[in-house]
Amino acid sequence: MIQFDGEVVLVTGGSRGIGRAISRLFTENGARVAIDYRSRTEDAEETLEMITSAGGEAALFQADITSHAAVTDMINQVVEHFGQLNIVVNNAGIWAEGDIKSMSPEHWQETIDVNLTGTFNVCRAAVNHLDGSRGDNIINISSTAGQRGEAAYTHYGASKGGIISFTKGLSTELAEDDIRVNCVAPGWVDTEMAEPAYKDGGLEKIGRNIPLKRVGQPEEIAAAVVFLASSRASYITGEILNVNGGNVLCG
Ligand SMILES: NC(=O)c1ccc[n+]([C@@H]2O[C@H](COP(=O)([O-])OP(=O)(O)OC[C@H]3O[C@@H](n4cnc5c(N)ncnc54)[C@H](OP(=O)(O)O)[C@@H]3O)[C@@H](O)[C@H]2O)c1
Repeated sequence: MIQFDGEVVLVTGGSRGIGRAISRLFTENGARVAIDYRSRTEDAEETLEMITSAGGEAALFQADITSHAAVTDMINQVVEHFGQLNIVVNNAGIWAEGDIKSMSPEHWQETIDVNLTGTFNVCRAAVNHLDGSRGDNIINISSTAGQRGEAAYTHYGASKGGIISFTKGLSTELAEDDIRVNCVAPGWVDTEMAEPAYKDGGLEKIGRNIPLKRVGQPEEIAAAVVFLASSRASYITGEILNVNGGNVLCG
C-alpha cells in the first residue's frame, strides 16, 4: 500500500494534463495537494472540483514559476495554508516548436526559463521547508527529449537534459539531509501539450513507432511519480525513471 496520510504535496502545473493526474492520484492516496498553475484558472478549478468531489483535499495557488519572487511567495502561502510541505513535484513545462534557423533568442530563453530555471526556483524556495527525517522528497519531470534530444525542439531537449543533471547533482547534495531527489522522464503522453503532433493522424503514426504501440496516458506518468515519492522508494535517489512504452532509443 502506498499512503501519504496528510502529507502535503506541491504539484507545479497541477491543473491539467499530467499534473492533474498527479494531483488526483496523490489525493486518492491520502495526500493534501497544493496545485500550482500559471493562468488557466478554469482548468485549475475543474481539477480542484474533481478532487474535492471524490473526498480529497487540495487548494489552488497561482504562480508563474519563472519568477523567483512569485514562487517564494507561493510556497510560503502553501506552508501557511497546510502547515507543512513534504513533497515537491516539478511538473510545469512548455513545449513550443522552434528550429535553429529561425528561433529567436527570446523563444529559446522562455523554454529554458520555464522548464529549467522554474525547476530551480521551486527547489530553491521549497528546500528549507523539507525535512528528510519525515521522508520529504522532490520529483522532477524531464522527458525522453532530455536524453536523446529532439529536432526542432533543441531548447526543450536542452532544458529537459538540464533537469536530469540538476536532479543528479541535487540528489547527491541533499542526501546528507536524507532528502531524496528523483526524476520521471515521460515519452509521448496524451495531453494538450502534444496535440500539435497528434492531429491529422499523428497520434496513430507516433503510436505505431513506440514498442508498446501507443502513446501514454497521464495516469501512467502519475503512477511512477507517486511511487518514487512514496516510502516504497526509500532507497532510490538520483534516479531517472523512464515511462515511455519503450521509446527512448527507437522512436
Ligand atoms: N505531454 C507529453 O507528451 C510530455 C512528454 C514528455 C514530458 N512531458 C512533460 O510533462 C510535464 C507536463 O506536461 P503536460 O503534457 O501535462 O503539459 P500541459 O498539458 O501543457 O500542462 C502544462 C501545465 O504547466 C503549467 N505551466 C506552464 N507554464 C507555467 C509557468 N510558467 N508557471 C506555472 N505553471 C506553468 C500550465 O498552467 P496553465 O494551464 O495555467 O498555463 C499547466 O498546468 C511538462 O514538464 C512536460 O514537458 C510531457
